[in-house]
Amino acid sequence: MYKKKINRFYSQIDLPFQETKQVYLEDIFKTLEREFNLRKNSKQFFLDLGSGTGQVIIYSAINYEIRSIGIEIDPILIKEAKKSIRLLKENNISKRKALHKITLLLGDFYSHNLKNYDFIYIYSLPTMQKYLKHVFQTAKSRAIVISHMYQLKGLTEYLEFRFKLDHNKEIQEVSTFFYRKI
Ligand SMILES: C[S@@+](CC[C@H](N)C(=O)[O-])C[C@H]1O[C@@H](n2cnc3c(N)ncnc32)[C@H](O)[C@@H]1O
Repeated sequence: MYKKKINRFYSQIDLPFQETKQVYLEDIFKTLEREFNLRKNSKQFFLDLGSGTGQVIIYSAINYEIRSIGIEIDPILIKEAKKSIRLLKENNISKRKALHKITLLLGDFYSHNLKNYDFIYIYSLPTMQKYLKHVFQTAKSRAIVISHMYQLKGLTEYLEFRFKLDHNKEIQEVSTFFYRKI
């Protein structure tokens, strides 16, 4: 128990919570549809590595009605995500079925196997990416990895760079990078 707390503490220093802005999500998902064969109502699986308050997987479930899974190390953020999903279910009956496609996992993405996922989303920091090699190694061939904000460096053994999306919504330059698992 104590060891788990220490790990969570360090992990959240390595990668603190910061949301992907809603304005970028639409661009990202449109790009997935246009360039990477994301299909509404399909049997595709979408994962957010470090899902925070769940807004990325809520977006994918509501707009694409695909299985949307989030793994998050912070139980408080998992609680917040569950609360948002519950409120959406209560207030938006038409989307209830889609929201049932969301699964939240409390856990450590450094020990999560990626073999089941078609789309793997991450909003990480360059400083911690080198520790992710063994994680991306487990992804299935041709899975699409989406890295918001920062390029994934030092992973060329496993990931082939495919596309850079420049959001151009603000003065600050913001991009999202798309890779294919080799
Ligand atoms: C930059 S935030 C991104 C949140 C969300 N994906 C989004 O884009 O809105 C990164 C998240 O990763 C979580 N995190 C950090 N280390 C983790 C680990 N080892 N396993 C699972 N989640 C982790 C943090 O708690 C934080 O919520």
